[in-house]
Amino acid sequence: MSASAKVVPHHIAIVMDGNGRWAARRFMPRLVGHKQGVESLRRCARACQQRGVRVLTVFAFSSENWNRPQDEVSGLMELMGVALAREVPDLHKEGVRIHFVGERASLSEKVRAGLAQAEALTAGNTSLVLNVCFNYGGRWDVAQAAAALAARGEAITEASLDRALALAHVPDPDLVIRTGGEMRISNFLLWQAAYSEFYFSDKLWPEFDAAALDQAIAAYAQRERRFGQTSAQIQGQAAP
Ligand code: IPE
Ligand code: IPE
Ligand code: MG
Repeated sequence: MSASAKVVPHHIAIVMDGNGRWAARRFMPRLVGHKQGVESLRRCARACQQRGVRVLTVFAFSSENWNRPQDEVSGLMELMGVALAREVPDLHKEGVRIHFVGERASLSEKVRAGLAQAEALTAGNTSLVLNVCFNYGGRWDVAQAAAALAARGEAITEASLDRALALAHVPDPDLVIRTGGEMRISNFLLWQAAYSEFYFSDKLWPEFDAAALDQAIAAYAQRERRFGQTSAQIQGQAAP
């Protein structure tokens, strides 16, 4: 295995936080920050691809974000439609496979159709898996997985739950990044982040660029992932 294959995380997950503050600092409406956030995501997806990251999972709208002012929520729903139309064709050309992760029943018919179309269009792509968590909550995910198993009469074990979760198609994230300076998980990948490395950036999401991503990856490369073992055990293991 080459040196870079060891230090570049296979799966990066990001809490894209700070759009509202980015706009407020410029005396602009919060929605302008969200629009800028879409630009930042496009840049980041490209940078991940160039660095050999295989899976990028981003938190775009949480189960709790419905509690924001009505105009921000409807603005975000509209922005999803606009972003799909504008970004999906290019992402498809670049070989990105898109998955939407989250509860869909409470989304409008139009948004649901857009998500399904983007998934169908990009289903054969293999260069990067992009999971967009939209109307997602870690608690929702664990509860829907348990309910699905119960409905099928299957035993609830770690392995069966793992297979029933909304991110069963990818391995757990190696690195979880949160921008915007807050140090909390806000109901993101509660199950899957059990052994992820965490990296917190003070940069607001719209200003998180390729250099900032490189800093996060460099910090990750310095970590010793022990998964419950001792440091001596890890050091003694032959390189894979
Ligand atoms: C993250 O940015 C995007 C969403 C939650 C939709 P915020 O909108 O939370 O931005 P801040 O944290 O208020 O700056
Ligand atoms: C987390 O950010 C959700 C997303 C980035 C989509 P929030 O801004 O909603 O988190 P809190 O409310 O500060 O914890
Ligand atoms: Mg926020």
